[in-house]
Amino acid sequence: MLETRITKMFGIKYPIICGGMFWVGRAELIAALAEAGGLGFLTAATYPTIEELRDDIHRARGLTDKPIGLNINLFASVRPQPIEKWVEVALEEKIPVVETSGRSPQGIVEPLHAGGVKIMHKVPGVRYARTAERLGVDAVGVVGHEAGGHPGMDEVTTLVMLPAAVDAVKIPVVAGGGFADGRGLVAALALGADAVLMGTRFMATKECRGHPAFKEWMVHAAETDTVYCMKSINNPSRLVKNAPVERVVEMEKRGATLEEMLPVLVRQGPDVVDTGNMEDGLVSMGQSVGLVRDVPTVKELVDRIVEEALAARERLDKIIG
Ligand SMILES: Cc1cc2nc3c(=O)[nH]c(=O)nc-3n(C[C@H](O)[C@H](O)[C@H](O)COP(=O)(O)O)c2cc1C
Repeated sequence: MLETRITKMFGIKYPIICGGMFWVGRAELIAALAEAGGLGFLTAATYPTIEELRDDIHRARGLTDKPIGLNINLFASVRPQPIEKWVEVALEEKIPVVETSGRSPQGIVEPLHAGGVKIMHKVPGVRYARTAERLGVDAVGVVGHEAGGHPGMDEVTTLVMLPAAVDAVKIPVVAGGGFADGRGLVAALALGADAVLMGTRFMATKECRGHPAFKEWMVHAAETDTVYCMKSINNPSRLVKNAPVERVVEMEKRGATLEEMLPVLVRQGPDVVDTGNMEDGLVSMGQSVGLVRDVPTVKELVDRIVEEALAARERLDKIIG
């Protein structure tokens, strides 16, 4: 039941994955998802030091003996990122799967593979999926325009990007952007994916870091409560619609430079998530927030997604016969 190339490759029960999430993708969430039968990625960029990253890996390992992943973010950054050290940590800690994103993983595919680590490279466009396959990664995650975080420059939605990617590569494709329930999982499988990848939906769970008011905002938010912006500075992002993001949009409209925008941009993530005051800064959020109606435990969410998937299949069986 629900066995795919991805469940077999990653050694997990269900084809349900939580992508790396800066600031919130930590031990409690990732371990809870592992225990529930899916796979999540601790997010290396979250931790100010390598020691703190290692501590959280050990904390997750104390909570589960099932596979946990590590997200290695290759995005250009104002602060230099210790990518080689993150690779070293993945190898030394025997992380079974690394999710890379932001830029070509060329240069780190070989050392990770030499250490027996599987690589899922996440991309916001079909042409990057082809490149990733050529570089030898094991699976490719594709995220459409709906996705929270960095949905890419192309503005192509998941409904089109996913089957196009499935046709373009032979390696397993993991579908991201807009998924929040079992109907979505079945739709992704029908379009040829071997798993779904969600970020936004997993933020509204009990184990995820975040102020109760932040999660409550998610429960009441609509699918129109996010903004796609920052294309003008080559950093396309989908974020919560609030006053700081409207300021960013307004600065973009008058042609502000990256330097002018930096003071607004540095306030990403931590403030809003931890205070629950939605006007405190910028925070990534996908359109799928409009499908979030409660704050369950991760296990309740995963079990429900599986039940919903079965119900969706029954419905299809009746229709297709
Ligand atoms: C709060 C938040 C932070 C994120 N941070 C990262 C990150 O650090 N690295 C990364 O590769 N993707 C990041 N993402 C993207 C997710 O891993 C995933 O691709 C995306 O959330 C999928 O779309 P969805 O939000 O519609 O589920 C983030 C997403 C969210 C919502």
